[in-house]
This record gives sequence, C-alpha cells and structure tokens, in this order.
Amino acid sequence: MNEVVKLLKERRSIREYIKKPISREILEDIIDCGRLAPSARNIQPWLFVVVTEQEGKQQLANLATHGKFIADAAACVAVFCERDQQYFLEDGSAATQNIIIAAKSYGIDSCWVAGNGKEYAEDVREFLNVPENYTLISLISLGYSDKTAERSKKQLSEVLKWEKYK
Ligand SMILES: Cc1cc2nc3c(=O)[nH]c(=O)nc-3n(C[C@H](O)[C@H](O)[C@H](O)COP(=O)(O)O)c2cc1C
Repeated sequence: MNEVVKLLKERRSIREYIKKPISREILEDIIDCGRLAPSARNIQPWLFVVVTEQEGKQQLANLATHGKFIADAAACVAVFCERDQQYFLEDGSAATQNIIIAAKSYGIDSCWVAGNGKEYAEDVREFLNVPENYTLISLISLGYSDKTAERSKKQLSEVLKWEKYK
C-alpha cells in the first residue's frame, strides 16, 4: 500500500489532543494543500482563517454546537467560500479534505466540524471579521494526539457496483 492510500485508510476523526503547538511552517504547508484543491472552473473561491490563540479557539468552540473540543486543539482552520459561486460547497469540501489529509501526513490529527448551513455560521464569520460575501464551509480542529479511534465502516462490497447498479 502506498503512503497516501495508507493515510486515507487510517485517518479517523480525533477529538482529543495533547498540548503541543503546530509550527507555523507546517500550518502554512497544510493550508497550501487546501489552496491547491480542485475547484469548479478553477475559481478557487476559498479563504482560510487559521486560529491558534486560545481566546479565539475558545470562542469558536463556544459557537460550534458539536465542536467543543476545538478549545483543546492546537489550531482551528475556518474554511470559507464565496457564497455566490455555484459550486462553493463542493469546492470548500475538497479544500477541507485536502487540509485533513495533509495534516495527517504530518502526524497531526483532526476533526471536520460542520459549518455550512449551521445556525452559528454567520456568528463565526463575524467573529473572524470575514467579509459578508464569504460563507462558512467547515471548521477543522488540528492537533497532535495520543488517541486512536475505531469506527465501523461499510464494507466495500456494500457500496461498490461495477458498470451498473444491477
Ligand atoms: C460535513 C461533515 C460535518 C461534520 N460535523 C461534525 C461536527 O460538527 N462535530 C463532530 O464532532 N464531527 C463532525 N464530523 C465528523 C464525523 O462525525 C466523522 O467524520 C464520522 O463520524 C466518521 O468518522 P471518521 O471521520 O473517524 O471516519 C463531520 C464530518 C463531516 C464530513
């Protein structure tokens, strides 16, 4: 199995982190992988806000209903896209997944926290001083961790059909 496939297969959402900062150089490289994600017509409608200060992480944790663990992460990436782009959600989701996998390649665990359509999406945007023409796609908690997670996953045979459904 090659390294990328191994990362993709081993990645799990991790919500507990050890107290160890992530260097700015690594954070920049991880976001660079988000920047290079595919986007419809190559519009690249995204904007990434990286929050590392405790006060900011705590505020995001307070806002995100199912993201309280953001407060304990080394960093949180807020992914935004221009809301009037037709494929803003797909584009922002592709960037989000790139960031998650790039982080994993650096030994950094993460959890995708819902953003798009959530009742706190506008509060997050305003808190981060992001202009109104952007909308929140996701929050990504990032941190080193000593935890692993087992999750039940569907079998390949349940979800893979060849040529036609039947
Ligand atoms: C669009 C989306 C929204 C999610 N929102 C949350 C969330 O708000 N809080 C959370 O703890 N996990 C969230 N998750 C993570 C999922 O719960 C997780 O991916 C799923 O349980 C499968 O586990 P795994 O990531 O370990 O494979 C979200 C994942 C996706 C793709």
